[in-house]
Amino acid sequence: MADYDYDVLVIGAGPGGYVAAIRAAQLGLKTACAESRETLGGTCLNVGCIPSKALLHASELFEEAAHGHMAKWGITGEFKFDLAKMHDGRREAVGGLTKGVEFLFKKNKVTWLKGLAKFTGTDSVEVAGQQVRAKNIVVATGSSVTPLPGVTVDQQRIVDSTGALELPEVPSHLVVIGGGVIGLELGSVWRRLGAKVTVVEYLDQILPGMDEEIRKESNKIFKKQGFEYKLGTKVTGAEVVGDGVRVTVEPAKGGAAETIEASHVLVSIGRRPNTDGLGLEAAGLQLNAKGQIETDHSFRTSVPGIWAIGDVIPGPMLAHKAEDEGIAVAENIAGLTGIVNHAIIPSVVYTTPEIAGVGLTEEQARAGGEVKVGKFPMMANSRAKTNGEPDGLVKVIADAKTDRVLGVWMINNLAGTMIAQAAQAMEFGATSEDIAYTCHAHPTHAEAFKEAAMAVQGKPIHV
Ligand code: FAD
Ligand code: NAI
Repeated sequence: MADYDYDVLVIGAGPGGYVAAIRAAQLGLKTACAESRETLGGTCLNVGCIPSKALLHASELFEEAAHGHMAKWGITGEFKFDLAKMHDGRREAVGGLTKGVEFLFKKNKVTWLKGLAKFTGTDSVEVAGQQVRAKNIVVATGSSVTPLPGVTVDQQRIVDSTGALELPEVPSHLVVIGGGVIGLELGSVWRRLGAKVTVVEYLDQILPGMDEEIRKESNKIFKKQGFEYKLGTKVTGAEVVGDGVRVTVEPAKGGAAETIEASHVLVSIGRRPNTDGLGLEAAGLQLNAKGQIETDHSFRTSVPGIWAIGDVIPGPMLAHKAEDEGIAVAENIAGLTGIVNHAIIPSVVYTTPEIAGVGLTEEQARAGGEVKVGKFPMMANSRAKTNGEPDGLVKVIADAKTDRVLGVWMINNLAGTMIAQAAQAMEFGATSEDIAYTCHAHPTHAEAFKEAAMAVQGKPIHV
């Protein structure tokens, strides 16, 4: 590699980039990773998955205690919470994990190049004034919040997901623009802590991309929890007035505008790939119509030696997808065969109950041919019922002829963990009969998955 500084240079240390760098180093490649943030871990560890789950966990504990959910078990008392301490807990979680990645870099001898990286050629990059040449360059620059015209984020009254993780007070009325994953997760946090939450969603249902029945059922559950909705409605503007925000909305299909008075607004209408200032022209890389970098199945871009993974390429913007692509790209660079099965990537909304799915929705499956669908309500699952968690269901969609499982969707308190079993079964090409005849421990929420598979066979026991 004569005049190359590194075999592999990864740009971005999010779950895609840091995992790619570690695996490349494990495979014996001389590796560096450029990251402009003060800490490693990208969006996910710093301002995404981890801090949001810290607040989801803390706010759930508070709601359980303070709203009398524990009273039937004889646990009562006066419960208060200290928001500053809750934020300390969030920061501690983030600090521990981001330092953990730094430790892993040292352990695996990955060099962290601190600063913003910019291509200066097809195999060269400038980082903090230094020219670095690498035989392989992996673009893993992730994504950031999509702005909404007419709504200026000030991170005080009008916040994006990062601001919503750091609010120093509980909003009296939080208007969430966008009924997607961020809106529902962070909306749940602040609702549990006492905010009135109104979700304004452009489409006529929340959680686009998920199974239709699961979307409707989730909507009902969130409504019961106190969420208010304005579906089929678009936000046309928001302005800070005194210590509040005036939000202007109108029907998505057109009609009379109205205003909503809020104390705070969360803009969560999606994310877009980070490519500004990356010098892609110097590398000869082009973007597709969505601003993403296209790759083949090996994560090769159109320029030899340049690879791309994670949120910056097409596909769901999820940390586990980025991580798996990180491993695969490093293995491909090392001459091995790194593959990600994009048809089986689970998605989870970490609300209470959790909402999860993998594979095809019922609508997608039906569009492809004849299917059999089995469902099992959590109300009939002994463990969920005992715990007082009756909301939700598990749904298994199988091919009518082969019985092969095409998709699994679920709403229940452990759905985020249970969906891994469904993903694994599907990776192994399981039929619903395979699942129905697999012994599941009793009493567990997971039995609902087995019973839903039995329902595909027409033979559930407990309903
Ligand atoms: P990122 O994590 O975005 O990392 C890219 C890194 O590259 C950043 O640190 C950035 O600073 C750096 N960078 C960019 N350009 C340059 C440059 N030119 N030079 C140097 N460095 C650069 N996903 C889940 O799967 N589960 C969840 O629970 C979940 N929760 C989320 C909650 C929130 C509030 C948000 C916002 C996102 C959440 N996500 C979740 C999505 C998840 O965070 C992303 O899918 C994931 O982080 C993408 O990983 P990545 O490595 O592609 O990019
Ligand atoms: P999203 O794509 O999930 O939802 C955005 C919502 O906003 C959609 O329902 C869309 O119809 C709506 N919308 C768009 N424009 C609108 C407008 N003008 N007015 C009203 N509604 C409008 O995006 P979100 O929630 O911002 O999340 C971004 C990404 O982060 C997602 O792709 C998700 O994959 C990832 N993420 C994943 C999490 C998880 O895995 N648990 C948690 C949080 C984020």
